[in-house]
Amino acid sequence: MKINEILNIKYPIFQGAMANISTAELAGAVSTAGGLGMIATGGFSPDEVRREIRKIKKMTDKPFGVNLVMIHPDIEELNKVVVEEGVEIITCGAGNPQKYFDYWLKNKLKVIPIIANKKMAQKVESLGAIACVFEGAEAGGHIGKLNTFPALPEICDSVKIPVISAGGIYTARHILAAEILGASGVQMGTKFLLSREAPVHEKFKEVLIEAKDRDTIVTGVTTNHPIRCYKNKLAEKLLEIEINNLGEEEFEKYARGSGKKAVRDGDVEWGSVLAGEGFEYLNKIESAREIIENIMKEYEKLKRSFKEKN
Ligand SMILES: Cc1cc2nc3c(=O)[nH]c(=O)nc-3n(C[C@H](O)[C@H](O)[C@H](O)COP(=O)(O)O)c2cc1C
Repeated sequence: MKINEILNIKYPIFQGAMANISTAELAGAVSTAGGLGMIATGGFSPDEVRREIRKIKKMTDKPFGVNLVMIHPDIEELNKVVVEEGVEIITCGAGNPQKYFDYWLKNKLKVIPIIANKKMAQKVESLGAIACVFEGAEAGGHIGKLNTFPALPEICDSVKIPVISAGGIYTARHILAAEILGASGVQMGTKFLLSREAPVHEKFKEVLIEAKDRDTIVTGVTTNHPIRCYKNKLAEKLLEIEINNLGEEEFEKYARGSGKKAVRDGDVEWGSVLAGEGFEYLNKIESAREIIENIMKEYEKLKRSFKEKN
């Protein structure tokens, strides 16, 4: 796995940006532990993002990234903030990033787009991305149509830039499997929700530990913004609105502000508990460092025994 050499990080593990959640507290802990911490912009104002960038720089001199969300209402301002604050790595997603590439490259940013299929991978490579994150539909949050492992080899073969595998990665076995399928690194989101440093309400963390393998659901397919989340009262209500075709206004009445409701207020019934498909792997709260070091220790062991057996 070679993305760590390219970005000068110890381990090929990205912490996926999480709207309303990944502040410097989490991203800084991940970067300090040798992964790539990622500050989210979703749910935050440009001033808040600037504050978090300044904070993470005080916490660590290790590389970190900022995730730019194309549909963010203040995307132009956020573009300025990352450049003014000397950010070196960005990931970008939730919309078409094409028109910003010139600006990013002119300002020497290393751009790593989140992509959902081969065509997108090839497009961002031609625009000058240094790597891309392929996120399969097992992931928590906004998702595309393809699943991680069926599509990963094909996507890796279709570009020269490194591909980071995201969506459904929780264990050393997943990481080794992703590597065998061609990935240069992995990005985990849901797993880091259970880190001690994730600024998420305790009830949010508890519900992830208690949930079982089939407890996620995808809402927003009819509004063209599919989202994977924990199956709670809100998710079931949103699905009911979609199935009965009650319209976007009714949908938004429940969806608006629901992310913060879950993350900050701990309303795990009527808030949006974004999470991926791996509840069986979420058993305890650990520090970000423990998550990364335990997985990498297991990965090295697994890799050695895999080589011996083959
Ligand atoms: C709570 C939550 C919020 C997320 N918010 C964002 C976001 O703002 N921007 C983004 O690019 N991806 C976002 N994601 C996706 C993650 O960055 C990551 O790619 C994904 O979680 C990986 O799949 P996994 O959940 O199976 O580990 C979010 C995921 C979760 C679980």
